[in-house]
Amino acid sequence: MRSVFFVKIFILSPFKTSNEESSFTGLFMQKKVVIITGASSGIGKALAEKYAAEGWNLVLAARREERLLELKTTLNETDVLTVKTDVTSEPDCKNLIEQAVEKFGQIDVLINNAGISMRALFDQTDLEVVRKVMDVNFWGTVYCTKYAMPWLLKSTGSLVGVISVGGYIGLPGRSGYSASKFAVRGFLETVRVENLKTGLHVLVVAPGFTSSEIRKAALNGNGQQQGETPRNENNMMSAEECAAHIFKAVRKRKRELVLTFAEGKLTVFLSKFFPRFIDKMSYKIFAKEPDSPFK
Ligand SMILES: NC(=O)c1ccc[n+]([C@@H]2O[C@H](COP(=O)([O-])OP(=O)(O)OC[C@H]3O[C@@H](n4cnc5c(N)ncnc54)[C@H](OP(=O)(O)O)[C@@H]3O)[C@@H](O)[C@H]2O)c1
Repeated sequence: MRSVFFVKIFILSPFKTSNEESSFTGLFMQKKVVIITGASSGIGKALAEKYAAEGWNLVLAARREERLLELKTTLNETDVLTVKTDVTSEPDCKNLIEQAVEKFGQIDVLINNAGISMRALFDQTDLEVVRKVMDVNFWGTVYCTKYAMPWLLKSTGSLVGVISVGGYIGLPGRSGYSASKFAVRGFLETVRVENLKTGLHVLVVAPGFTSSEIRKAALNGNGQQQGETPRNENNMMSAEECAAHIFKAVRKRKRELVLTFAEGKLTVFLSKFFPRFIDKMSYKIFAKEPDSPFK
């Protein structure tokens, strides 16, 4: 009797507290399930590849379904569900979660990664741009989280939000973007505190500059996509490296991950003690971008 008890503890206890998947768990447990929004490009796509390589079941969401289907062909297809989803639509987000549960029966990790950016001074920005950015970045996170919550609570899984350094400091020319990322941080930090005793893990990730399509897709003041990046994408962290950091932070059940040293960790740290200095630095850095809306 006693030995059965110890065997149970030995086999089951690691799975209650960690999302780590191993060949050992594969023998005894169902594969774990991650939902990734914004999986058609950049960090989300790299996350899909990382979780696939680690042997997880994947639920991939984005509007460009053809890209998701193309990605699926490069992965172990039976482990991947693609769901065409516009995260600004509450019914789409509900459908995403329902389809995930119907296919795999559980949700262990939800990564709210889908996002868009903008670039224009606030007084030259249509309000519709701010609304759109809030709809994708903030409401998209809220909708998906709302419908996934019962399943994440059941699995004592991980709820992840991909924000930005712009969720800690106001980035000039990105009023709607910074506001949306501050909002996501406030939302997830509250959910974390509310769940201190339920075992739900909440991780807030702030990537630094990461090579992706985010700047090409960013909206100008009139709501048109910029179409090109104002920065050298080759000098940035790769989406794959960013995804590997996120995977590790989820596995270790960290509460916060700020990536890159100078533009990330140091900036967030200094902003708490020297906010005026950081204001001046970020103004200076963003003013140097080609076609910057301010000089
Ligand atoms: N790259 C960086 O330097 C950086 C830095 C800090 C934070 N971040 C954050 O990282 C996250 C991922 O961005 P990324 O850099 O990988 O950019 P990306 O390459 O442009 O990817 C953005 C993803 O979001 C999806 N998306 C956009 N609007 C959507 C909507 N309405 N519904 C569903 N999906 C939508 C896009 O898919 P579809 O267009 O197919 O829908 C795409 O898959 C974002 O939250 C971004 O704010 C990025």
